[in-house]
Amino acid sequence: MSTDTNLRVIIIGAGRMGADHVERLTRRIAGAEVAAVVDIDLARAQRAAELAPSIVAASDIDQVVNREDVDAVVLATPGFLHEEALLQLLERDLPILCEKPLTPDSGSSWKIVEAEQRKGRKQIQVGFMRRFDADYQHLRGLFESGELGQPLMLHCAHRNPDTPPGFTNEMLIHDSVVHEFDAIRFLTGEEIKSVQVRLGRCTRHAPAGQHDPQHVLIETESGVLADVEIFVNAQFGYQVTTEAVFEKGIVNIGGDTGPYARTAGRWGGKVAQSFIDRFGAAFDAEVKSWVDAAKRGEIHGPTAWDGYAAAACCEAGVAAQKNGERVAVCLRPKPEMYR
Ligand SMILES: NC(=O)c1ccc[n+]([C@@H]2O[C@H](COP(=O)([O-])OP(=O)(O)OC[C@H]3O[C@@H](n4cnc5c(N)ncnc54)[C@H](O)[C@@H]3O)[C@@H](O)[C@H]2O)c1
Repeated sequence: MSTDTNLRVIIIGAGRMGADHVERLTRRIAGAEVAAVVDIDLARAQRAAELAPSIVAASDIDQVVNREDVDAVVLATPGFLHEEALLQLLERDLPILCEKPLTPDSGSSWKIVEAEQRKGRKQIQVGFMRRFDADYQHLRGLFESGELGQPLMLHCAHRNPDTPPGFTNEMLIHDSVVHEFDAIRFLTGEEIKSVQVRLGRCTRHAPAGQHDPQHVLIETESGVLADVEIFVNAQFGYQVTTEAVFEKGIVNIGGDTGPYARTAGRWGGKVAQSFIDRFGAAFDAEVKSWVDAAKRGEIHGPTAWDGYAAAACCEAGVAAQKNGERVAVCLRPKPEMYR
């Protein structure tokens, strides 16, 4: 399609992420518009559609997916619904931005990889937005250039103020550490070889059945070691940091930034309270990149293969939570399309 025409997008799922994407595409990103919003809860779709008079609200994907005026789809339903929707959308030949996870397990993710290969071209970008964060991109540049020598280790922390009801032990891996798995693969350009999880002292703020924080040790193919502190009831705010140790230097990203104020005998700044505060600009850049590529008939950014690899890492992580052992990540051979 012409790069001067707006990409007309359906958003499926109008919850926290979907509604944010409707707002992003309607008000913050040039070059796209929302044609329809679908949510099983029609009132929620209608609320999200209020942002522009042209947006149609629907309760079922089948009501809008075959419309002529649709060019692309953002899938923002819960992960367990992604497989069926992706298989349907691949048949429709539309470019898809699929919120992470691609699917919740490596078996179903592999089915998506296979289906995409049958179509013969990439159609899916997975929503690992950290790849579009300016600091992560800068760090990736240092890994690529070799300016600071070989990378040796990564020290990562992922802290949330608290968790919603029902946030299980496994979700620490599937919903949170999944981003570190992808970020480590992105930064190093390597697959992850193994995962180990250690459970130490547990905070009194963890709900029953959840062990928090956890220490996750990750090893890449070439032996880069990454440790991740995942702490989802950290109370003070949302923080994602990485310290990269190279042969000739140390690089930190995600630390506190200004503005700082000195007042009433104290000094300090603000702490982000959610992933939207911390990664808002990265989400904008992710969606803008997807829109621009889709208009050229291309898909950039994290692929279905990356979604599959992340799902395999999560499986190893959950097994490692249970047995405390180092668990190997088993991947199928990478298809040519994703090399
Ligand atoms: N990239 C990130 O950092 C990030 C952050 C949060 C969530 N996510 C991902 O985004 C996705 C959505 O998460 P969320 O937090 O917005 O969840 P949510 O529960 O707030 O929203 C999901 C929405 O999907 C709707 N829905 C359920 N079944 C449906 C169906 N069959 N058809 C249409 N709509 C349906 C629900 O009614 C709900 O409105 C998940 O895959 C999640 O993992 C990604």
